[in-house]
Amino acid sequence: MRIGVLGTGVVGQTLSGKLASLGHETMIGTRNVEAALARTTAEMPGEQPFGPWHHEYPDILVGTFGEAAAHGEVVINGTRGAVSMVVLELAGAENLDGKILIDVANPLDFSQGMPPSLTVSNSDSLGEQIQRTYPGARVVKTLNMVGAPVQVAPAQVGDGDHTLFVAGNDGDAKDAVANYLREWFGWREIVDLGDITNARAMEMYLALWIRLLMAGGPMFNIKVVR
Ligand SMILES: NC(=O)c1ccc[n+]([C@@H]2O[C@H](COP(=O)([O-])OP(=O)(O)OC[C@H]3O[C@@H](n4cnc5c(N)ncnc54)[C@H](OP(=O)(O)O)[C@@H]3O)[C@@H](O)[C@H]2O)c1
Repeated sequence: MRIGVLGTGVVGQTLSGKLASLGHETMIGTRNVEAALARTTAEMPGEQPFGPWHHEYPDILVGTFGEAAAHGEVVINGTRGAVSMVVLELAGAENLDGKILIDVANPLDFSQGMPPSLTVSNSDSLGEQIQRTYPGARVVKTLNMVGAPVQVAPAQVGDGDHTLFVAGNDGDAKDAVANYLREWFGWREIVDLGDITNARAMEMYLALWIRLLMAGGPMFNIKVVR
């Protein structure tokens, strides 16, 4: 399948790397291709700068946000949540129309330092903003509640016995995404929270996720036990 991954950070790298290893024709999107490929210093300790990372994955195409969105039969938003609306405008409504748009982003506001707050919450969410602005896209919010390494390898945490959530207005799109998540990454327990308004809860969970990350790193997840 042709997949467009918007985002050159650890999420874009991790998802693209895994998808390409599965044989998908993957294009990663960025503001400026040359600038991204020339990057040799990481923004955060422990992250790989895009240039050396791409050397390890030469088969992954690199394009602008618009080119990556146009390339994808499915498009993934793995960009900084505070600027995802700007990125999607660059991607172009015409390149998202009718497509499944998997939204992995969190609208985190780091302007006051750690831990971050949210740029949108309570009665709205980034997932909803995206769906409202791009009514032709079939937005499915998922994977935003787990760290990048866990997204593509849930079995690395508790043998994979934990929960992933999805939310979105289009039931067929959610079913398709749940199947992708099972096939591509091995997710087993997927809970459908309902329509895209449920992205509020998924994004507000980040207040706890960030604190758990600060307490012990990214290799964890939660499980719903009734
Ligand atoms: N890190 C995780 O483990 C994790 C887990 C779950 C969800 N998430 C969410 O996934 C998303 C990606 O996270 P990340 O850590 O991989 O990377 P990130 O640093 O949050 O985002 C990197 C991407 O955002 C773009 N970007 C940054 N500032 C921009 C601006 N002013 N205008 C346009 N684009 C801009 C960058 O574009 P260029 O390519 O042009 O530089 C890059 O593609 C975030 O929303 C994050 O909250 C992260």
